[in-house]
Amino acid sequence: MSSNNQILLTSVGSYLPKKKISNDNLAKIMDTSDEWIKKRTGIKFRHFVEDNELTSDMGTNAAEQAILNARLKANDIDLIIVATTTPDNTFPSTASKIQRNIGCKAISFDVQAVCAGFVYAISIGASMLKDGYGDKCLIVGADSMSKILDWNDRSTAVLFGDGAGAVILEKTTAVNEFVHNDKWGILATKIFTNGEYYDLLNTDGGVSKSKSTGFLRMNGKEIFKHAVEKLSSSLLMCLEVSNMDIRDIDWFIPHQANQRIIDAVSNKIKIPQEKIISTISIHGNTSAASIPLALDVATKKGNIKNGNILALQAIGGGLSWGSLILKIGKPS
Ligand code: ACO
Repeated sequence: MSSNNQILLTSVGSYLPKKKISNDNLAKIMDTSDEWIKKRTGIKFRHFVEDNELTSDMGTNAAEQAILNARLKANDIDLIIVATTTPDNTFPSTASKIQRNIGCKAISFDVQAVCAGFVYAISIGASMLKDGYGDKCLIVGADSMSKILDWNDRSTAVLFGDGAGAVILEKTTAVNEFVHNDKWGILATKIFTNGEYYDLLNTDGGVSKSKSTGFLRMNGKEIFKHAVEKLSSSLLMCLEVSNMDIRDIDWFIPHQANQRIIDAVSNKIKIPQEKIISTISIHGNTSAASIPLALDVATKKGNIKNGNILALQAIGGGLSWGSLILKIGKPS
């Protein structure tokens, strides 16, 4: 990225549906146990939407919080990108619904990169702001995964949850004018796709295939291996691009899919445990919402502070994956 026009991440918000589901609740409707789920995944709870609660409702709540925290008004937003796998309707985009709900006229569209969607959306939003599509971009990650789960498939139904998170990206040219060589905002992004692995994680239906949404299907063991390798390699690439060492990162916010994946990646590339933000136990895998939900929890706890260096990483169906490094907030 050039030295001016830096893209700052200035605000975060999130939303969880009220309905909280424990592993024991699931054990009442399928052949599973709290012990199995905790041991294999680290998950204790997840939240599910009600039948009449939409992905856009969750996304709107998260977006309004992020806009408020940034001390902006909806009309200030030039661009809305929503990462989701579970849109309200086949079309129009969930982003255009959220645009209507919050009340603005920003360019609005969805990104489909499943669990990697939030990292993709930030990469796209940052590039578009730099290309002149405005000064302020709202990024939302929102998913109602409970609506595409097969309750007869215990190997997938216990893994996922619903939720939404949002961040604001702001373009600024001011930073370098008063802090020479001190770069803020998005410092490096690397995103990838390999369609060879299309069948490892997908739905068994879709609009053009079956005129239905289908249910989520996954080869868990294969995904596990790809996740460890690809999350590690993409983060190492980002470190190289940003000329940083793993020790320069203050906080790691990995996609919250499975605690064992998080542990394996951190062992592989030597991330200290105390720098890892993990909310898998309370959220489950919320797909595109997982990173911004974890970011918001850690920000509200006061762990993440203005000027901290964060590393974000995610992988999902496609396979699609990526990492990014950023310095959060803005110079005071
Ligand atoms: N409760 C109880 N037993 C179960 C359950 C369950 N919910 N699910 C599967 N089992 C049983 C299996 O039937 C099998 O029984 P068997 O030995 O009698 O055949 C046994 O548990 C072991 O099953 P495995 O599939 O071998 O279990 P594994 O240790 O691989 O764990 C898991 C499964 C958790 C899905 C693991 O493969 C994994 O973490 N994969 C990574 C993928 C992931 O996390 N995906 C999330 C979404 S994708 C993404 O976001 C990137």
